[in-house]
Amino acid sequence: MQDTLEQIHAEIRACTGCRLHFGRRQAVPGDGPPNAKIMFIGEGPGFHEDQQGLPFVGAAGHFLDELLAMIRMKRADVYITNVIKCRPPANRDPQPEEIEACRSYLDRQISVIRPHMIITLGRYSMARPFPNARISQVHGHARKVDGILYFPMYHPAAALHQPSLRPEVEQDMRKIPDLLAQMDSMPDSRLQEDARQLTLF
Ligand code: URA
Repeated sequence: MQDTLEQIHAEIRACTGCRLHFGRRQAVPGDGPPNAKIMFIGEGPGFHEDQQGLPFVGAAGHFLDELLAMIRMKRADVYITNVIKCRPPANRDPQPEEIEACRSYLDRQISVIRPHMIITLGRYSMARPFPNARISQVHGHARKVDGILYFPMYHPAAALHQPSLRPEVEQDMRKIPDLLAQMDSMPDSRLQEDARQLTLF
C-alpha cells in the first residue's frame, strides 16, 4: 500500500520503538505540506516541541522563522522534521540506538515528500548525507545525491548559544534560493560514483 504522510505521522505518534517514548508528553512527527520542495531536518524535539507536538516552536524555531523570512519563505512553504521524534531527557544528545529506531520514519518521510532540497540543521542530521564530515568544514556546501540536493547548516540553536556563528548561518541560508534554481545543472555524486565504478570494469 502507498505510504502517506498522515499514516507515517500516526505511526510516529504511537511509536514505542525506543525508551524515549517513556518520557515524552507527545511525539513530534514533523510539520509542513506533503509536496514541499524544501525539507529541514533538525536534531530532536525540546521542551516546547514536546508540549505542542510540533517541530521548532521554541527559541531555535523563532530564529528559523527569521532565517526563512530572509529568503522570503514561510514555515507553510517547507516541511520540518527531526532525526529523532521524541524529546530526550533534559535535552541530551540523541543516542545511536534512538537515531536507529527513528531512521525508517525519516527515510519514509523523505520518500513520500520527495523534496528537491534537504537542509540539515546540526551534526546529527548532517551525518546522514555527510558521514564522518565536520560541520565546521561542510556547512554551506551543497551535495546532490540521487537527485536530492543536501545542504548542511549549523543548527540555529548553535548560533543562539554562540553569536559569532550567526553571520555564517545567515550567509548559508541566503544561498538556498540560488541553489534550488541551479540544482538541475549540478552533478549528482551518486551518478558520478556509478560512472567511476563502471570505468573500473
Ligand atoms: N531543535 C531541534 O533540533 N528540533 C526541534 O524541533 C527543536 C529544537
